[in-house]
Amino acid sequence: MDLSIIVPTYNEAPNVAELVRRVSAAVSGVDAEIVFVDDSTDDTPDVIREVAAASALPVRLLHRTARAGGLGGAVIEGMRIAASDLCLVMDGDLQHPPEKIPEMLARHAEGDVDVVVASRYAGGGTSHGLADRTRVMVSKVSTAITKSMFPVRLRDVTDPMTGFFLVDRRTVDLDGLRPRGFKILLEILVRRSFRIAEVPFDFADRHAGESKASVRQGVHFLTQLAALRFGKMSLFAVIGGLGAVANVAIVWALTQLGVDYIVAAIIAAEATIIGNFLLIERFVFSDMRGQASGVWSRFAKSFAFNNAEAVIRIPIVALMVETGHVSVVVATAVTLVVAFVVRFVFHSLVVYAPRKSERTPMRAAMEQLDEQAMQPGEL
Ligand code: GDD
Ligand code: MN
Repeated sequence: MDLSIIVPTYNEAPNVAELVRRVSAAVSGVDAEIVFVDDSTDDTPDVIREVAAASALPVRLLHRTARAGGLGGAVIEGMRIAASDLCLVMDGDLQHPPEKIPEMLARHAEGDVDVVVASRYAGGGTSHGLADRTRVMVSKVSTAITKSMFPVRLRDVTDPMTGFFLVDRRTVDLDGLRPRGFKILLEILVRRSFRIAEVPFDFADRHAGESKASVRQGVHFLTQLAALRFGKMSLFAVIGGLGAVANVAIVWALTQLGVDYIVAAIIAAEATIIGNFLLIERFVFSDMRGQASGVWSRFAKSFAFNNAEAVIRIPIVALMVETGHVSVVVATAVTLVVAFVVRFVFHSLVVYAPRKSERTPMRAAMEQLDEQAMQPGEL
């Protein structure tokens, strides 16, 4: 099989027959299949089975009951069960014209890209099928915001929110994706760098039925964007920041109670180091605990690192102030930023390292750091 066409559907019964007809015509001569991943509550699955029985092009149906991950979850599921590695994703309401498929295939066959994106906003594309002016605005503004948040990864993409694209699933880490709704292409594209080409298309009117997009999807989208952009590393930073505030508060409270300044500083430092470990275990690296070493081993490494860091950082600040003509504030700020980065790297690569790895250590380290920095946080 050379091509799997994945179509997520949610109550699209009146569109199925026409979609299969137009797709069949468009891919005649290609060894292809259609995979419907359906979450419908109406008779769509029955209609799909009926159409499949009469279709020359193989049509498969995965009907889900839990609607896990919504549209995005359905697309991932479809990619998993596809017979071909080459997967084309399109909507089931004919807003994505099947007649574009040959052009997308031809572009991919040139061999120099991983993803072919059908774009409403590339030269020659249009978005006239968007319901009304408000949706056009929302689409344009959210596209601009999204692109500005990922200026490098989305450099070559004018329409990261499109649901019409072609990708070789071997280039996608299906297990690593955490689909949160409508914008699955965006999730895929920001995870790693892809070679991307676009072909313009006319976003048509719906053939029949109603759009499932909603304000709720919009809110969902914003949280998805935040989770993708302000991922693990920033959650780690927030927890570190809270620790610094707690540290100062504890020192203040203890000295108020008459505890000696040095003793208070030590107690505060150790308390925040332990608190920090508990929080990052729970919120930042929870997905990695399974493969990492035991909890006491992780704690020992984290504790040793943070104590060493505290011990080393103070003399470095002193050295910077005395020899470099920098103020204490600047020196402290600079060392804190450097310490933060080193701490994140150390925790990603050492504390939460998988127990064993077949890759070369350097390569594995680089991959893991990249992966951790890009992971969405869990808050
Ligand atoms: N399986 C499944 N589960 N499919 C779903 C779900 C779901 O929870 N929600 C929606 N779908 C299907 C619809 O049946 C349709 O085939 C497709 O996903 C797109 O949904 P529409 O309701 O037609 O949404 P739209 O036209 O507003 O959004 C489209 O345009 C956006 C760009 O503006 C989609 O293509 C989006 O992916 C695209 O980002
Ligand atoms: Mn639609």
